[in-house]
Amino acid sequence: MTARAATVRAHANIALAKYWGKADIARNLPAVPSLSLTLKGMRTTTEVEFLPELGQDELFLNGARALGKPRERASKLLSEARSLAQVATFARVRSHNDFPTASGLASSASGFAALALAAVEALGLRLPLERVSALARAASASAARSLYGGYVELGASAEHAAPVAPPEHWPLKMLVAVTSEAAKDTGSTDGMQHTAKTSPYYASWVSDAPRLFAEVKAAVLAKDFARLAPAAEQSALAMHASMLAASPALIYFRPATLAVIEAVRAARRAGSACCFTIDAGPHVKVLVEPSSAAAMQRELAGVEGVLRVLESEPGPDAQILPGGAAELSP
Ligand code: DP6
Repeated sequence: MTARAATVRAHANIALAKYWGKADIARNLPAVPSLSLTLKGMRTTTEVEFLPELGQDELFLNGARALGKPRERASKLLSEARSLAQVATFARVRSHNDFPTASGLASSASGFAALALAAVEALGLRLPLERVSALARAASASAARSLYGGYVELGASAEHAAPVAPPEHWPLKMLVAVTSEAAKDTGSTDGMQHTAKTSPYYASWVSDAPRLFAEVKAAVLAKDFARLAPAAEQSALAMHASMLAASPALIYFRPATLAVIEAVRAARRAGSACCFTIDAGPHVKVLVEPSSAAAMQRELAGVEGVLRVLESEPGPDAQILPGGAAELSP
């Protein structure tokens, strides 16, 4: 095989109804349905080059060579793509995030979505987007959702994600209150396995999650913020409750996390349309109607422990970039 390359840009997504737990560990199928919003402003750009001279897959994250688990996970996805294309050539992967990596800011979602689409494109496979989403899901289930723009769902035990509504359906703003630049201690994959094994609340989380998902989905389709806010917050807090009851407890909250929750609840009491969600990290993501976004941004920036606030809006499908390698800095 001659050298073949492709470059893809994929966007992070933030779940409004959370995925936490696996129905099938080996195949990485989710135990609960989830619904997310793909974000325009938080992007991963990934170049994949299949090069005959390589003796193994190589991964560079933000310019630095990655070894160990991250490389193995990427290599596993690349091997799936190789077997579909019936080639044996290894690949060099160069991936850049324009937001902090591995601290609960969903970098694995955009990263594996970009890697899956770039690998498929570089190998010349003509696959429907749902097959690419399934390839990404096997690597990291939330990544299945980042192939699609706007509001996206991933069903319980689903092979691939599916679009719920395009970005323009409901142009809300998402503010990310960053409370730490450090990498998190426990990644999502290990965290959810630990919760499933040791938390007495895990079964309750799994049995109630479909109800919360249905509520979030109905609210999104109806563009009903008053209905969305309590369901999205309960989904995030019920997920964290299952982690808090694990042994030992999995605590992603920091003092600033709680301070932001308080600020959002106070703003809502004062009349603004806003709600929070929290992933496996200390940051708080605040969904807000555009008319309240500027005031909320100022409010969050003033909360003690908030380092900065990123603002984003609904983003598009993952895109294949023309010009390939030229799009990437070295
Ligand atoms: C808290 O998709 O990172 O962000 O499938 O094991 O890679 P793996 O897990 P991952 O989990 C994301 C969990 C979450 C909630 C969500 O995005 O739905």
